[in-house]
Amino acid sequence: MRNEYLKVYEESIHSPENFWGRAAKEIQWYKPYQKILDASQKPFYRWFTGGELNTCYNAVDYHVLMGRGDQAAIIYDSPVTNQIRKITYKELQENVSRFAGLLSSFGVRKGDRVIIYMPMIPEAVVAMLACARIGAIHSVVFGGFAPNELAIRIDDAKPKLVVSASCGIEGKKVIGYKPLLDKAIEISRHKPERCIIYQREQFQGTLLPGRDFDWEKEMAHASAVDCVPVSSTDPLYILYTSGTTGLPKGVVRDNGGHAVALKWTMKYLYGVEPGDVFWAASDVGWVVGHSYIVYGPLLHRCTTLIYEGKPVGTPDAGAFWRVISDHKVKVLFTAPTAIRAIKKEDPYGEFIKRYDLSHFKYLFLAGERLDPDTYYWASDLLKRPVVDHWWQTETGWAIAGNCMGLDPLPIKAGSPTKPMPGYEVKILDSNGKALPPEQEGIVVIKLPLPPGTLMTLWQDDQKFKTSYLDMFPGFYFTGDGGHIDRDGYIFIMGRVDDVINVAGHRLSTGAMEEVIAKHPDVAECAVVGRKDEFKGQLPLGFVVLKSHVHRNDGEIVKELVQMVRDQIGAVASFKEVVVVARLPKTRSGKILRGTMRKIADGESYTVPSTIDDPLILKEIEEALKQSRLA
Ligand code: COA
Ligand code: AMP
Repeated sequence: MRNEYLKVYEESIHSPENFWGRAAKEIQWYKPYQKILDASQKPFYRWFTGGELNTCYNAVDYHVLMGRGDQAAIIYDSPVTNQIRKITYKELQENVSRFAGLLSSFGVRKGDRVIIYMPMIPEAVVAMLACARIGAIHSVVFGGFAPNELAIRIDDAKPKLVVSASCGIEGKKVIGYKPLLDKAIEISRHKPERCIIYQREQFQGTLLPGRDFDWEKEMAHASAVDCVPVSSTDPLYILYTSGTTGLPKGVVRDNGGHAVALKWTMKYLYGVEPGDVFWAASDVGWVVGHSYIVYGPLLHRCTTLIYEGKPVGTPDAGAFWRVISDHKVKVLFTAPTAIRAIKKEDPYGEFIKRYDLSHFKYLFLAGERLDPDTYYWASDLLKRPVVDHWWQTETGWAIAGNCMGLDPLPIKAGSPTKPMPGYEVKILDSNGKALPPEQEGIVVIKLPLPPGTLMTLWQDDQKFKTSYLDMFPGFYFTGDGGHIDRDGYIFIMGRVDDVINVAGHRLSTGAMEEVIAKHPDVAECAVVGRKDEFKGQLPLGFVVLKSHVHRNDGEIVKELVQMVRDQIGAVASFKEVVVVARLPKTRSGKILRGTMRKIADGESYTVPSTIDDPLILKEIEEALKQSRLA
């Protein structure tokens, strides 16, 4: 018998319209689409053009209408506030439709942007769905970003309104979000007209009369509104992600293709059925949160889990297994770094044995490379499939994976298995020549990308083209390097650009360089991502000081660390800076970041033939050694 995955994959590549047309039948449309794949504006492809739907209707109202209103839509499990709360589909519908009414009463209309800056509480999901309900475009900003990063996103998205909470809770720390929001609005050029603030008892934010409104008070007299039909190609959300410069890229997601693709993945990739409990232990501020805390599970009528806690320390390394056991979770999706955090505290998996994991079927991991050590640890102790899958904010769902709902393929440690339906993955050299199996190169995807992937960058079609499409005509440039083996398994080895991955968080070294370069004593700088056993990568700064500077290096380093924390956020984990006399460069002046990274990782390196002065590399090695000894 032929492997089911292979059959499905081949159809998706050779007859994409048949394949996705069938998948689209699982979604409720107000108006049928005229075209499944619209290639009339190449290289901008559109899915399900002419069709009208509402994502919130499909994720909430439809299930209530079908008699499932009493099923739990959300389980909120918050060890940091000692709360467990269940919200049924009916209750979710009530909250979302009233919050949508509140947004409408504040003048938010179809196409307006709303920024959501929230911790992991159900109200974040309510705010997202309420935007979808009225056709407003949400842009969720991760809570770990500093005011400056939030301000950059406010200036780009130009939101009419911001939804936030008074605070977030990070382990034992209470982080005031409202003061961060105030600061962001103070420094942004665009000023949102209104803010709705969800006040939490751990910290109350001060509300600015006329601009800020209390969530609970306003909701008490808000009236419910219905879903509005939107075009399949209308944006559902903008999600900013780190690029190679300080300006993040605003990835734009449509409504139609997104709903169709996510719904398909729930059954066939994750192997879950309506009614199952699905848990993505991520954050609503990341793409994983958008796709698999909010939209995917709700479109599929699963119960989704919102977990406000950490894998360790809230209270211990058994937290994940406790949640799985308490709520009968079928699938857990998290980042390898979270598993490494657990492994460090509980190397023999003692906590795993204490919980009833009988409902738990699969552990899915993504966000960074799943190193074989972590794979074997989890797989040996959990005795369940541990499924690596590779994707990006841009694609919104997995590019490569192992479909648990079809015939699963044998797992190879270190590989996210094979391309998902709709993705034709190739490996090219820097001249665009296709490379044979086993050879390392640049990973690209043949156009068109499948439904649910990015449509463009927010109000910047040109940047979309230059960032992703111009490099290799006919292909989407993923920014990742890797190879495909003789069996067709994909191996993703790391980014080929200036993007790094720290504890599953995608960050730009370019953005950090821009911050450091502003320090009055810094002449020039470079930031590279060095290997870290726990977080995968950590940023490492090299700075050259101006010649007249005679201050203590240590003091300057402290100031630089603080600057990055203040301007990008704690999430950057920027803690290591080495002062050097010169930076290694090519004769044309390009900084040799790749070679510096290899030196920092203790890897062997060849001295580039284009280097201006090879001696500098020895100086870098020595400076690193001294700084690590200090
Ligand atoms: N709001 C405010 N601050 C935040 C934050 C948030 N939402 N998330 C992280 N931070 C802060 C942390 O408190 C920490 O601050 P500190 O320097 O004062 O200690 C800093 O940002 C760095 O955070 P992080 O790198 O996440 O380290 P950590 O030790 O707090 O947690 C892990 C480590 C592995 C538990 C955590 O990073 C994790 O769960 N990662 C998975 C990421 C993920 O889900 N990615 C999506 C793909 S699945
Ligand atoms: P993000 O946009 O935050 O999801 O980050 C996307 C990047 O994370 C990708 O381009 C990869 O570099 C990396 N990544 C995500 N998942 C994997 C994986 N399973 N294996 C290897 N790298 C991954």
